[in-house]
Amino acid sequence: MADAHVQKKPDPCSFVIFGVTGDLTHRLVIPALYNLAAGHLLPDKFCVVGVARNGMSSDELIDSLMKGLRQYATRPVDESVAKRLFECVTAVEADPSDPASFDALRDRLDRLEAKRETGGNRLFYLATPPSAFLPISRELSRTGMLAENGSWRRLVVEKPFGTDLASAKTLNAELLKLMDEHQIYRIDHYLGKETVQNILVLRFANGMFEPIWNRNHIDHIQITVDEKLGVGHRGSFYDATGALRDMVPNHLFQLLSLVAMEPPARFDAHAVRSEKGEVLSSIQTQTEEEAQKNSVRGQYRAGKVGDTEIEDYRKTEDVKSGSTTETYAALKLTIDNWRWAGVPFYLRTGKALGVKRTEIAIKFKQAPFAMFRDTSVDRLSQNYLVISTEPTEGIELQFNTKVPGPTINIDGVEMKFRYKDYFRTAPSTGYETLIYDCMIGDNILFQRADSVEAGWAAVQPFINAWKKAGARGLKIYDPGSEGPEEADELLARDGRSWRKLT
Ligand code: BG6
Repeated sequence: MADAHVQKKPDPCSFVIFGVTGDLTHRLVIPALYNLAAGHLLPDKFCVVGVARNGMSSDELIDSLMKGLRQYATRPVDESVAKRLFECVTAVEADPSDPASFDALRDRLDRLEAKRETGGNRLFYLATPPSAFLPISRELSRTGMLAENGSWRRLVVEKPFGTDLASAKTLNAELLKLMDEHQIYRIDHYLGKETVQNILVLRFANGMFEPIWNRNHIDHIQITVDEKLGVGHRGSFYDATGALRDMVPNHLFQLLSLVAMEPPARFDAHAVRSEKGEVLSSIQTQTEEEAQKNSVRGQYRAGKVGDTEIEDYRKTEDVKSGSTTETYAALKLTIDNWRWAGVPFYLRTGKALGVKRTEIAIKFKQAPFAMFRDTSVDRLSQNYLVISTEPTEGIELQFNTKVPGPTINIDGVEMKFRYKDYFRTAPSTGYETLIYDCMIGDNILFQRADSVEAGWAAVQPFINAWKKAGARGLKIYDPGSEGPEEADELLARDGRSWRKLT
């Protein structure tokens, strides 16, 4: 995580994007590079090489990236900055099924780098479908492009990293035959979000939270990532993936691991990533029966979210008509360690819901003594600390207070901190920090192989149980709702309820 006060310039390097014609490159990678260029955080000696399969010229590529930038930029585009960035862009054609094209790519890169004086440092960004990760990596290795001889070579791998525990293990093992762990940057865009990075600061740079951050004071934790949008044009990817695989072992577990990890000894990649891996591997492995009991999965039918019509999930383009893929998942997990024994973690995520909300709500235990029982106060409202990423970035504390007046009346109130009220920062894509960190070689915000595998190991019983159950147990919910009612029952069984979302 770059320190805002000592932002060093990255080493000269080439930024090689595979999948340069795709949505991710246009929507996020190029706008992030633009924002870094605007902040003078790109190396002085730099080039962007866009690798595509379709024989596009550099001019055509620049044209298309420029259009993308105009559409997706998070701030007004300064033409001189855009010009400076796009001057560095070259299109190259290469296809992993044609080895000669990778030999040609290597020769082309060598020539470009000599001209641009980038010193041979290379960042390969795989903005491709997952099926291309290994074929590309194998070709990069065969042609010697991953060998670090006095210069660095790094590979950024997007999610999904595997589709289950076995495939994630295979992908890790195969990649590690081609390069070292320190060269692999497994990206999860949730770690680029300010509020997510702030969880560590909130917990470990303040003296007042950590002493109560445990089973003695915390009743349970809720992690919510609710979205209003449906699956849209991503039917083919989504139907093979579902809400659980798409969101839980990656994004929700990033939130869970930061909120539940032990304090690392130092703020460095090894210490932080070891603690994150440790807490993920402490998630209790459930049997398939337990997983079935401790989960709810749903699928949306046709309806409306606000004024927007949402078509029945099963009628979505590229979705099978009898699909049993979940678009909503809720899970109850427990962490088997000294700090969290007996504290449930409830996770929920879904599409086509009534609100867009990403938050971690930490529910504290009731005050231990009912001193106000003989007054007109019958039920105290609940104490929550809420770390929120969507729709506003900030932190809220809910607590009880006396309503002014001669009698004792108590009401729940909220204290709110919002990033935008305190800090004036230019809006970003969330990828800037991640790309910058990758260029300076700081992998603290990237996932290590062990954490990825620990995440998949924790969700594997749910994958297995749901596969076995098929259509049985799949709950249908209305767009615009909070998801299937059974998700409420999951908490009601434990005498708890989801925090009301607004
Ligand atoms: C992506 C998922 O990784 O994250 C999408 O594939 C999801 O399905 C998205 O919509 C959510 O990201 P964010 O930043 O909008 O919460």
